[in-house]
Amino acid sequence: MKTSSAQISAQTTRPPARWRGDVDRILITEKQIACRVQEMTRQLEIDYAGRELVVVALLNGTVMFLADLVRHLNLPLRLDFMGVSSYGAGTTSGELLWTKELRLDVRGRDVLLVDDILDTGRTLDRVRSKLRLLKPRRLRICVLLDKPSRRVAKVKPDYVGFTIPDHFVVGYGLDYAERYRNLPFVGVLKPEAYANLGKAG
Ligand code: IMP
Ligand code: MG
Repeated sequence: MKTSSAQISAQTTRPPARWRGDVDRILITEKQIACRVQEMTRQLEIDYAGRELVVVALLNGTVMFLADLVRHLNLPLRLDFMGVSSYGAGTTSGELLWTKELRLDVRGRDVLLVDDILDTGRTLDRVRSKLRLLKPRRLRICVLLDKPSRRVAKVKPDYVGFTIPDHFVVGYGLDYAERYRNLPFVGVLKPEAYANLGKAG
């Protein structure tokens, strides 16, 4: 199994005019995401070789990534979601709030746990412990983004789209206070955007 992740070019791309007020720069373009996600899909097909998967995706940040990852995945699979969010709307993760429980039976199954970004690792550590109690045959972790420099909990992802430096990023499913999920690229949020949202509520 390959656990490599794509490199991000140092070249910065300006966001479209509509987003320039909030987004400082594009970190990963729409095209780079599409290429990398397609590579990840092919890798999953090789690694799981026709076995049935249970894909467990965390709400809400995985919407775009998940859809693109599984759309052309040539494997039998079942899909379910777990809802988990950190208390508060800030940029740091604190206590976890469960908003949706898993419905599918994963006992004895190959489970692929999908999240948008692995940051401190606290979220995936907790989710993983909860899933392990359900006795899957194998549990692997797949994330679009990895920020290894911020890791606190001991979590090693099996599949990583891109390894990124310590910036707060939004877009392609990732949010700040539930905004910016719809951007087609991954961009670095301007500090002013936090302040403005704080005022707007
Ligand atoms: P962790 O528990 O610190 O690993 O954080 C995981 C969760 O925090 C992710 O699923 C995201 O919801 C959120 N998060 C962490 N870093 C970022 C970021 O740069 N942008 C948006 N959300 C983030
Ligand atoms: Mg999230």
